[in-house]
Amino acid sequence: MTRLKDKVAIITGASSGFGRGIGFAFANQGAKIVVSDVHEAPNRGGFEGNPELTTTAAIRETGGQAYYVNCDVTRADDVAKLVAATVERYGRLDIIVNNAGIYRAGKLAHEFAVEELDACFDVNVKGTWFGCQEAIKQFLKQGDGGNIVNIVSTAGLQGHPKQSVYNISKGAAANLTRCLAIEYGQNKIRVNGICPTYAKTSLTRALFDDKDFDKVFTEAIPLKRWGEVDDIASLAVFLASDESSYIHGDLIRIDGGETLCRFSV
Ligand SMILES: NC(=O)c1ccc[n+]([C@@H]2O[C@H](COP(=O)([O-])OP(=O)(O)OC[C@H]3O[C@@H](n4cnc5c(N)ncnc54)[C@H](O)[C@@H]3O)[C@@H](O)[C@H]2O)c1
Repeated sequence: MTRLKDKVAIITGASSGFGRGIGFAFANQGAKIVVSDVHEAPNRGGFEGNPELTTTAAIRETGGQAYYVNCDVTRADDVAKLVAATVERYGRLDIIVNNAGIYRAGKLAHEFAVEELDACFDVNVKGTWFGCQEAIKQFLKQGDGGNIVNIVSTAGLQGHPKQSVYNISKGAAANLTRCLAIEYGQNKIRVNGICPTYAKTSLTRALFDDKDFDKVFTEAIPLKRWGEVDDIASLAVFLASDESSYIHGDLIRIDGGETLCRFSV
């Protein structure tokens, strides 16, 4: 359990869902975690175990090190303060997981309001951008590299019906991952993206509870199941650790085979 021993990691949107699971998995591997979000309690309606415990409290209960910083990733000044608070608390930064994200769906492109487009771009694009930018400034100051893991989506790799505002925001996050990998590889800053299909979190609760959607979705997935938070957390540990030291600028699908085919058997 030492794959991330003494590494200092910021995880955005870490009160719920993937971010929370990644926090547990990183702490379990010896990392010091900065949990950040717009609220400390997990979202309602998710699949969290022990939802009465914050991510920080749950990590500390198992002997791990974690610290909460309130941060709205749409605000550049908040993200700068998040990195500063991390360095003040733990002395440095090794890893940032840009995970905070929102989903908007259920409409054809001409039906979406500009507010829905803006919301997806503010959190999913600008939030990822600010997280990368502030972490890179700190990594360059430290001078010994760093590791960025962006939580993208299969929506960043292809089109899906009735979620164009989400897909184009994740497409931007995917391409940001590639651009930064090209620019900062020379500084030993690795940058990769994780691209899950639908997994069980509060973000997808309505879809999970829709029996018709659940049937169509699981039948179309070659592995015949939804993604789980632990699936994504395991991949995040691998990408954040030295085990993946030559993987750079990649956008790794974690989708039970979703993107291989239109229909499954
Ligand atoms: N669940 C899925 O099926 C799925 C699939 C592909 C990609 N993703 C992506 O994974 C990431 C995590 O999603 P999740 O499914 O765990 O959702 P979630 O809703 O369970 O958790 C998202 C967290 O982000 C936080 N957040 C939202 N806006 C924020 C902001 N402005 N600043 C800081 N924090 C903010 C929320 O408070 C919440 O705790 C998102 O980027 C999402 O787009 C999710």
